[in-house]
Amino acid sequence: MIVPVKWTDEGVLMLDQRLLPAEEKWLVLRSYVEVADAIRNMVVRGAPAIGISAAYGLALGMKHFVGTSQTDMEDEFEYVADVLSKTRPTAINLFWAIERMRKTFQQAISEGKSVSEIKHILVEEAKRIHDEDIKAQEKIAEYGGRLIEDGSTVLTHCNAGALATGGVWGTALGVIRGAKHQGKKVAVIADETRPYLQGARLTAWELVKDEIPVTLITDNMAGYMMKTGKVQAVVVGADRIAANGDTANKIGTYTLAVLARENKIPFYVAAPLSTIDLNCATGNEIPIEQRNGREITHIRDIQLAPEGIQVSNPAFDVTPSEYISAIITEKGIARPPYEESLRKLFD
Ligand code: MRU
Repeated sequence: MIVPVKWTDEGVLMLDQRLLPAEEKWLVLRSYVEVADAIRNMVVRGAPAIGISAAYGLALGMKHFVGTSQTDMEDEFEYVADVLSKTRPTAINLFWAIERMRKTFQQAISEGKSVSEIKHILVEEAKRIHDEDIKAQEKIAEYGGRLIEDGSTVLTHCNAGALATGGVWGTALGVIRGAKHQGKKVAVIADETRPYLQGARLTAWELVKDEIPVTLITDNMAGYMMKTGKVQAVVVGADRIAANGDTANKIGTYTLAVLARENKIPFYVAAPLSTIDLNCATGNEIPIEQRNGREITHIRDIQLAPEGIQVSNPAFDVTPSEYISAIITEKGIARPPYEESLRKLFD
């Protein structure tokens, strides 16, 4: 059972995803600054996992607050929240988790709780966010698993597994695990997912551990696999889903959706409600993170491209909702038109 982030009295424990699959090393992060750095530097990644980490980071930051006045505590909360919110811009789960922690904090302040009570309340709230996420993934696995036909091969992109969430199931990999759990025979084709190789390093690692048959391909092989009948469904996760269903996910997801449509293969997005941003009307409003060009010019310390080459490295793209067959959530499966079906999930 993979749980990539844990709260302990010492600090936040994180499995260093940068080192996988070669090394399974756990880091103990003892301050909110270390948690923020871990999110920024991809020790932890994946939308729900980033949100949970930010919640723990806030709880940790406030645990170390040394003042006694409520006003100072409120200032400190906003300072820590601001640092954490500037780590990665695309996954809405980060901002969702910070906002939920803020509501809990303000409620405790308005009830006149003491500083030590508030510290405890924040730790408990962060743990609750984590527990709820694992439960949400389990429901996604159950609902999503039903969409996968027995004997299918599912193509997935990036890592939307236990590592990318609170743990255990995952979103896209949750659907695959759910299908297996329901007694179906299922195999996976994993895109390596250039430039950061979350597919080759992380998805492959998770599936090998779970003994789910997985075949690794480079990203540019996906069209061939679909056209030659080797793929029965595509399932991906999401970093932010707009109110109209447009979905930001790892760069290359849009390409897969277009290929799936061309080849008449269902294209599913699996995500918890914490990934849906009803304040974003369409995908055009979703900020796309631009990452360091070194991720493209180098693999670890090996140089692949000429010194000084110009590089573009958008980390995500937006798949227009018309390419998405269904969005699988813990509250059920949303189908087009998404403006209506997504809103209904929140009723
Ligand atoms: O840059 P990353 O590794 O954080 O990107 C992760 C993804 O794009 C995932 O597919 C997404 O966060 C869904 S995770 C359940």
